[in-house]
Amino acid sequence: MPFAPSLSAIHGRAPLSTFAPDLPAPSPIRRATAPGIVKRKGGEPVVVLTAYTARMAELLDPHTDVLLVGDSLGQVIYGLPSTVPVTLDMMIAHGAAVVRGSRRSLVVIDLPFGAYEASPEVAFATSARVLKETGAAAVKLEGGTAMAATIAFLAARGVPVMGHVGLTPQAVNVLGGYGARGKTEAEAAKILADARAVAEAGAFAMVIEGVVEPLARAITQAVPCPTIGIGASAACDGQVLVVDDMLGMFERVPRFVKRFDDLGARIGAAAAAYAAAVRSRAFPEEAQLYRA
Ligand code: KIV
Repeated sequence: MPFAPSLSAIHGRAPLSTFAPDLPAPSPIRRATAPGIVKRKGGEPVVVLTAYTARMAELLDPHTDVLLVGDSLGQVIYGLPSTVPVTLDMMIAHGAAVVRGSRRSLVVIDLPFGAYEASPEVAFATSARVLKETGAAAVKLEGGTAMAATIAFLAARGVPVMGHVGLTPQAVNVLGGYGARGKTEAEAAKILADARAVAEAGAFAMVIEGVVEPLARAITQAVPCPTIGIGASAACDGQVLVVDDMLGMFERVPRFVKRFDDLGARIGAAAAAYAAAVRSRAFPEEAQLYRA
């Protein structure tokens, strides 16, 4: 069935460069793959950013190895208080948009809270839906030893899995907050065991979030797959940030975020300039008028 034209196409703007009416997704041949990411262990750092929309994916894609459709979209896009309320339908809608907007990065989609934990079979059904309906080639799920059997089940059935250990935001109601993990010896040992279990189960990579530097280094040395740090130091094999944090869209960001722009302030200034131009009738000008 042919795809409906994109909104950009309808409005006469240049369509996304990857837009192909006869394909549900761009050819996977040109994309980074999960096995290709595994080979990056200990080599050139893996560059990961979150993306939630087609246009943002298109802008980031030339610079990233992996685009992560994170369930952080709950807070970033929907203004939710945590990732817990995020639904599978939300992840699929945004995941498909990111696949349409990109052509070279591996697209990884977060399995949302409640959609995979009950059993490996549930996780497989969810993952199959995600891969079929988005065109993405991998999923990410949170958890350590408790999720190892599920990761092995998925990996054996054709679903590349990125793990996520340390601070696992979907468990906020158990953890009681978003503070750094691994500060005590016992907690560090537990997180290291989680990471080993995730790797042994067959994860092709794992996010390490919000842990102290020596623990991130120990995990990175202990596991054969690339570690992708967020708030986990440069000892990891790659880095990920939430794109809106990195662009400066929010005034308050966690300590581990570096803002590479101040886009929030620039958007505010552009909106103020637009409002002033409308109110003074300085906009639209001659250049924006249709002529008979
Ligand atoms: O949901 C997300 O964006 C994530 C990253 C912060 C790793 O899991």
